[in-house]
Amino acid sequence: MKKSVLMVCLGNICRSPLAEGILKNKVDTSNVFVDSAGTAGYHIGNAPDPRSIAVAKKYGMDISQQRCRKFTPSDFDSFDMIYAMDESNYNNIVRLATTADDISKVKLLLEESDSAETEVPDPYYGEHDGFEMVYHLIDSACAKIAAKLEINYGR
Ligand code: 4NP
Repeated sequence: MKKSVLMVCLGNICRSPLAEGILKNKVDTSNVFVDSAGTAGYHIGNAPDPRSIAVAKKYGMDISQQRCRKFTPSDFDSFDMIYAMDESNYNNIVRLATTADDISKVKLLLEESDSAETEVPDPYYGEHDGFEMVYHLIDSACAKIAAKLEINYGR
């Protein structure tokens, strides 16, 4: 059965669009549906931040066609796994859950990584090197997620 993964941050213009692009690049998208959303609605309909577009481009991905949307409680029904970039995002998502099953779908992205970090820091107010660091944190977690999903293909 086709699996579905939702990447979530606050604005859905910096971290989660990168996570969407990176995971899509690592899986067979005919087997896995990947999307992203923000818990806030500040940038609905906008393209990703130019700094996220630039770092994705540096590593061979075009995320410029993505458009920001807000996380909605119906996402609990639409997705198998929901990955939050930081604890604040995690709490914002879980606050909208209505069942234990909803809550069981939500994880911090870096729970899937060997990184010593537990959160993908918000790079919005920082410099470009923040986006480079964020890229690598997300990339290592997505490699693990992709490997897990591959084991599940066809089930
Ligand atoms: P993101 O970063 O959650 O990684 O997309 C942010 C983008 C925008 C804002 C905050 C964080 N903002 O306050 O507009």
